[in-house]
Amino acid sequence: MSEHRLHAADLVLPLFVKESLTEPAPLGSMPGVVQHTLDSLAAAVKEAADAGVGGVMLFGIPAVRDAVGSQADDPDGILQRGLRVAVEAAAGRLVVMSDLCLDEFTDHGHCGVLDGAGRVDNDATLVRYQAMAVAQAEAGADVLGLSGMMDGQVAACRDALDDAGYMDTAILAYTAKYASAFYGPFREAVDSELQGDRRTYQLDPANGREGVRETDIDLLEGADVVMVKPAGNLDILAEVAQRSEVPVAAYQVSGEYAMIEAAAANGWISRRPAIEESLTMIKRAGADVVLTYWAVEVAGWLKENR
Ligand code: PBG
Repeated sequence: MSEHRLHAADLVLPLFVKESLTEPAPLGSMPGVVQHTLDSLAAAVKEAADAGVGGVMLFGIPAVRDAVGSQADDPDGILQRGLRVAVEAAAGRLVVMSDLCLDEFTDHGHCGVLDGAGRVDNDATLVRYQAMAVAQAEAGADVLGLSGMMDGQVAACRDALDDAGYMDTAILAYTAKYASAFYGPFREAVDSELQGDRRTYQLDPANGREGVRETDIDLLEGADVVMVKPAGNLDILAEVAQRSEVPVAAYQVSGEYAMIEAAAANGWISRRPAIEESLTMIKRAGADVVLTYWAVEVAGWLKENR
């Protein structure tokens, strides 16, 4: 008699693939999550597909970083190599998505390139994103996750994709992405040391309307899916879900994952019910798609329940 229930196919598993890694490396701040080698990535994608998970979201960690993130659009860069491996392993059984942002590739850790004064240069960054979009589409990504929060990024990438003949490559826009302390463990996951903060381009958690306004802009620019992040912004998620004309995603981020894992490890919270409740709240708020590091485990529980 429930109004809402979880489905494995609604879940998307974020995966990290690291260049020149010889075996999977566990992450201290995210128990149960690893940085993958290309081989272990293929196995993880197959495991997710077997579990019935709807998709994976791939993040690449290059061996070399520079000011403009040169590895980000290199056809042999780790993300493109990872994508080719993931697409083959998926064999059409799940959707392969990739993170489209520069922060994993720049030595300063910002999501864009910097101008002479050290500020993120919005429009110069769009040119880099366009090159990334084409490189990722060429490597076989089904959906590009535009997470950089530059103004005009959806329109710029849509144009570049269409011009290159990738009309069918979809765009998932990180629409309402808040400048959040809850991305903390992710920095370890991608070995990133951010210089400064992201408050000039990510949203202020004190501002709700601005987050909702971003939905209208991304829809006009051609987004195929809009996302709210962190997922804990349930009020924004509910409003975006009401307003959106396309599917709505929510990202249960690294810090949201780590909090439940840490409390459970201490015996302060009951792990499985807490995970299930957190995901149910996100669905109830209006998410059609949920990115969560628990995707495969939860899919397994859903099978048991049947
Ligand atoms: C940007 C990106 C970030 C996350 C996903 N994409 C980091 C950031 O914006 O600071 C965070 C995801 C998480 O914390 O789980 N490439």
